[in-house]
Amino acid sequence: MEKLKVAVVGAGIYGRNHLNAYTWNPNSDLVAVCDMNKNITDEVSREYGVKTYNDIEEMLNNEDIDAVSVATPDPYHKEPVLAAIRHGKDVLVEKPLATSSKDAYEIIDAAEKAGVRVMVDYHKRWDPASIAVKNKLQEETTGKPIRGYMRMDNIYDVALNWLKWSANSSPVHFVGTHCYDLIRFYMGCEVTQVYAVGHKGILQSKGVDTWDTITAILEFENGCTWTVENAWILPNGFAKADDGCSEILCENEMIRVDSQKRGVEFFDSNKLSTPNVCFIQNANGRPTGFGIDPLNDFVYCIQNKKPFFANLKDGLEAELIAEAVHKSAETHQVVKIERRK
Ligand SMILES: NC(=O)c1ccc[n+]([C@@H]2O[C@H](COP(=O)([O-])OP(=O)(O)OC[C@H]3O[C@@H](n4cnc5c(N)ncnc54)[C@H](O)[C@@H]3O)[C@@H](O)[C@H]2O)c1
Repeated sequence: MEKLKVAVVGAGIYGRNHLNAYTWNPNSDLVAVCDMNKNITDEVSREYGVKTYNDIEEMLNNEDIDAVSVATPDPYHKEPVLAAIRHGKDVLVEKPLATSSKDAYEIIDAAEKAGVRVMVDYHKRWDPASIAVKNKLQEETTGKPIRGYMRMDNIYDVALNWLKWSANSSPVHFVGTHCYDLIRFYMGCEVTQVYAVGHKGILQSKGVDTWDTITAILEFENGCTWTVENAWILPNGFAKADDGCSEILCENEMIRVDSQKRGVEFFDSNKLSTPNVCFIQNANGRPTGFGIDPLNDFVYCIQNKKPFFANLKDGLEAELIAEAVHKSAETHQVVKIERRK
């Protein structure tokens, strides 16, 4: 089988994982990288010895590419995704698919028209803990899921220093959509309506105009109700850049997942750290873990014509929930999920 020729757009914090995955995957070739920041492309061409561009159209016009992997900031996925679709390429896009349902539908329509496929990198589905929970829920012994709780937060530094574009996103778009996608995956059905409350002011006072935290209640078609909490204001001294846990109460059984402590603890004279050893590890130079698995699966699914594990419908549904959650937090009203007919 010929190697899949992949180009990456956006080579910032997370795009580096895309570069590493396609470089190491024996079935893919990293043929080009595009980033609008020339300092980044200079660095990438030095480190990876790959052809780089600062303009996606120029790259798509000049390179022989099979698929495009997009890791631009949350609010700027649409333009590179639509460009790749126009050129007839299958696409992997980082989560969230878009930061509005309007943009999500535009991507869906364009992909359908061009006859290409788009995968969304909701990598929590590949977490061994999530797979164990999904498999457990499929056993008849648990009975009906009745109530669920999920929390995923980030430390201040993520919103204030890591992401230059955090004011154009939110804890709901950045980590909340991970939760919404994972819960849909567990439940196997859709959200009907949401109610949400939140807090603003702390990040705003530090120059980032977005929500500090949002708590959402999601009602699912199967009658299960979930509470989801997402914040961007964990103290920087926290043991990990993100915090997470979930609990599902079923008719006969209860499931509890601690996504923060993965069994490894590092201590120095100031701080305890609890690295997520399952996420992305450098194994003797080779990237491995559930952050890398979806990128490898993208290559596998295209080459073997298999369906993607997280597709455009999944991207759209997470965004519809995120949009409803923001609206509810602004208006203090229950918001029904409206889907295009
Ligand atoms: N940082 C994380 O831990 C993390 C984890 C999982 C997923 N993600 C997702 O990955 C995506 C990227 O996040 P990040 O943290 O790497 O952001 P980042 O700001 O570090 O990197 C984004 C890069 O995209 C480039 N860019 C922006 N618009 C572009 C365009 N039109 N064409 C070419 N390049 C463009 C920027 O110059 C920048 O280098 C986001 O959607 C985010 O939600 C991030």
